[in-house]
Amino acid sequence: MTILKKAKNFLAPLPVILVTTRLKVNDVVKDNIIPLSWVGVVDSRPDLININISKGKYSGDIIRKTEQFGVCIPTYKYLEQVDKCGCTHGDKVDKFELVNFSKIEAKQINVPLIRECPINMECELEDIIPFKTHEMFIGKIVKTHIDDEYILEDGNPDFKKIDILCYVNGEYWVLDRKVGNLFFTGKR
Ligand SMILES: Cc1cc2nc3c(=O)[nH]c(=O)nc-3n(C[C@H](O)[C@H](O)[C@H](O)COP(=O)(O)O)c2cc1C
Repeated sequence: MTILKKAKNFLAPLPVILVTTRLKVNDVVKDNIIPLSWVGVVDSRPDLININISKGKYSGDIIRKTEQFGVCIPTYKYLEQVDKCGCTHGDKVDKFELVNFSKIEAKQINVPLIRECPINMECELEDIIPFKTHEMFIGKIVKTHIDDEYILEDGNPDFKKIDILCYVNGEYWVLDRKVGNLFFTGKR
């Protein structure tokens, strides 16, 4: 076993998500997309999630103002579009136009969702926790959309078909296969 000279975080895999925002100034609407992987689950009942954005980024500033954001789960099919959104900045580029994604309107928030993503969740901002380099935005999921093409009879998304993207130590990965159900060893 080697112990690294400097402690490092190798938590993996992390999800790859697309967070959408909308800024409306007078009559001008600016929609944006930011790919994120430093994200996680905070609580249930209500469902709270966290997205961590490094300080000073355009998307973080918008979420602070509007207190709303969309969480859209992309598939491997759109890997190139996802990466492009992470190489550009919403104050300079219209990323919806850049990657040719189509918008669907949300039900409860005024933020566009992404038609090409099989799962879209509408979030209302609950809290912001500042850290040294990043800010943690905590969102409450208020609506969840699943594309009919990817929904199973029990109402869950068909993750096998969705082919989600993962972030692993600076690389993109996809999942290989299902190996079991939760608590398959039996709760005691
Ligand atoms: C797969 C992927 C994951 C990323 N994860 C994060 C993240 O968790 N936090 C962050 O601040 N930036 C992350 N980035 C970088 C932002 O997406 C990037 O800085 C983006 O251009 C910022 O967009 P904006 O200027 O429109 O806000 C990630 C990029 C990619 C491609």
